[in-house]
Amino acid sequence: MTMLPASVLASEASLPAMASPAPSFQAASIIPLRVKAAEEEIAALRSSLVCALNQLLDLKDLNTGVHSTRLAEWALHVAGELGLNQSELADIEVAALLHDIGKVGIPDAILNKPSRLTAEEYELMKKHPEYGWVVLRQIPGFERASLLILHHHESFDGKGYPGGLRGEEIPVGSRIVSVIDAFDAMVSSRPYREGLPFDEAARRLTQGSGTQFDPDVIKCFLPLARAEMSAVFAAVGATVSGAI
Ligand SMILES: [Fe+2]
Repeated sequence: MTMLPASVLASEASLPAMASPAPSFQAASIIPLRVKAAEEEIAALRSSLVCALNQLLDLKDLNTGVHSTRLAEWALHVAGELGLNQSELADIEVAALLHDIGKVGIPDAILNKPSRLTAEEYELMKKHPEYGWVVLRQIPGFERASLLILHHHESFDGKGYPGGLRGEEIPVGSRIVSVIDAFDAMVSSRPYREGLPFDEAARRLTQGSGTQFDPDVIKCFLPLARAEMSAVFAAVGATVSGAI
């Protein structure tokens, strides 16, 4: 006859029923690892996809190489200063890198035209944000970034396209890309024209603050661009004081 107290006997009696703690403990520790591995796989896939699409832009001569990476860095910096969260930053990075992906659908004769576009050609060119949205929204995980791309040519005063959205109706990521894209276009040299010096580009951005551009974005971006202007201008093949 056992001398053990009844409470111990009861706990021993319950042991068979608890014989499965080991598997459930294992499952509990394996599930987070599997989730983490799946998340890493998705992040790697997402990154490869962005690289592949960037190469497509290169083939169409729509990229400025190293400069597009710098654009994404600027966009992330401005977004961070505006207090946006990690998920928004990830969408903004994709939008900054691929905002003009829709230009793949624009005829080369229009894209590379050295002279002014006709009204009809300009209307066609204005389709590129919608084309980019249509492509990117098909990819799981890129839905929000596709919306930023759709609205990257909206104007703060409502006079942009395609939606004619105004002020904070425009997604903040689109407002950021709009400023950075405009600055890039101003300072970059093209076969048919030289890029603007930094001070002139900064003056034009300031002039457009509150009309074309979000004033808060301009306020964050200009000091950053000024601080980095030597590297920035080296990347676009120009000097700080004027294009080469
Ligand atoms: Fe664009």
